[in-house]
Amino acid sequence: MQNFVFHNPTKILFGKNTVPLIGAETVLFGKRVLLVYGTGSIKKRGLYDQIVQSLHAAAAIITEHGGVQPNPLLSHVHKGIKLARENNCDVVCAVGGGSVIDEAKAICAGTPVQHDVWKFFTGKKSVKNPLPLTTVLTLAASGSEMNSGMVITNDATSQKFGFGNKQLFPKTSILDPTITFSVPADYTAYGAIDAISHVLECYFTTTDPYTPVQDRLMEGIVMNAIESCNRVLANPDDYHARADLMWTASLALNGLTSSGLGKVGFPMHMIEHSLSAFYNVPHGAGLSAVIPGWMRFNAKLQPDRFAQFATRVFDKRTGSIEEKATQGIEALGNWFREVKSPTSITALNIPGTDIPKIAANAMTLAKVWRMRDYSEEKIEAILDGCL
Ligand code: NZQ
Ligand code: ZN
Repeated sequence: MQNFVFHNPTKILFGKNTVPLIGAETVLFGKRVLLVYGTGSIKKRGLYDQIVQSLHAAAAIITEHGGVQPNPLLSHVHKGIKLARENNCDVVCAVGGGSVIDEAKAICAGTPVQHDVWKFFTGKKSVKNPLPLTTVLTLAASGSEMNSGMVITNDATSQKFGFGNKQLFPKTSILDPTITFSVPADYTAYGAIDAISHVLECYFTTTDPYTPVQDRLMEGIVMNAIESCNRVLANPDDYHARADLMWTASLALNGLTSSGLGKVGFPMHMIEHSLSAFYNVPHGAGLSAVIPGWMRFNAKLQPDRFAQFATRVFDKRTGSIEEKATQGIEALGNWFREVKSPTSITALNIPGTDIPKIAANAMTLAKVWRMRDYSEEKIEAILDGCL
């Protein structure tokens, strides 16, 4: 167990009929609210009206910044910052999934400073006094509702970079599982895959040889993400399955599971972000296309860790260490196929000839994230195994 600080300041209001609380929770931090949302799903089922009504009841003055796209764009963040400044917004309320919440975080960070917000993503500037943020989560996936990270695509350079800063934790996040009943099957699966990947990244990159508490937590999260996703796909209005999946996704990336693991990396994300930047692939789909290939490449280097994963998550008990490791990777890949998520970049119609371009792009992020054990050649070799 390595030394660690675990401090997650986000207040979570979880459960049915929590959405009407957003007004009172938001005006605690300011009355001039920038309301950030996506491309329209919140307007299809009355959520938007509920939010506006609650904010107005709390005497909030609302400026709207809708139109956040999946894989949110820097150019749209700039528009949000301009709106926030022109309307003297003093708090931001995000209603959506990870794309909306991430864009809102970037607006919170970028509004009070004079330099381009992108300088936070390249590590050239650090965050100062960001606007406070509240959120209503509508999709179980990224964990952004309960962490300090965000990921934005610089549409001018086709770079999709992420960074985190502890001042950017949402103050309050409302998680009502009934809001996710309308998430379609594909994004339900992509969300579960994203949550699983958040755990796998830490599980397979920790260098600490003995982390039994975190291992069981992470293995349990993977098992529950699979189980609750299967229950939701069988019955999209199953409240308890939606609730399990929602809380699983938050726990998968809120700092709890990685505490004590020491320095961990996010290599699968480092590669996947280039797929989303170049081809606008849904994040979870890009991950399922990269994960099996990345696991096959790394299982050779640490077979025991992959065999433990196979035994504890998929109950693989026969064969050698290497055979069990392979069985675990195959079992996860089979589940990705069962939930109709791609398991190769070929399945995403990405030609093998694009691999050098993808690897070069991913390497620019690996440098910002100081991933010294990665090179373009290594990324190309991993991607060759993802064809
Ligand atoms: O555009 P809207 O109307 O929001 O529709 C969205 C979008 O089309 C739709 N949707 C959301 N809630 C819905 C719904 N449709 C019906 N009913 C609902 N209740 O689903 C589509 C995808 O939404 P999006 O927000 O893009 O999905 P997700 O939550 O998976 O977020 C993906 C983004 O999160 C980032 C990814 O890079 C990606 O940009 N991540 C953020 C992280 C973080 N902050 O820690 C970590 C993650 O690894 C991830 O990188
Ligand atoms: Zn992710």
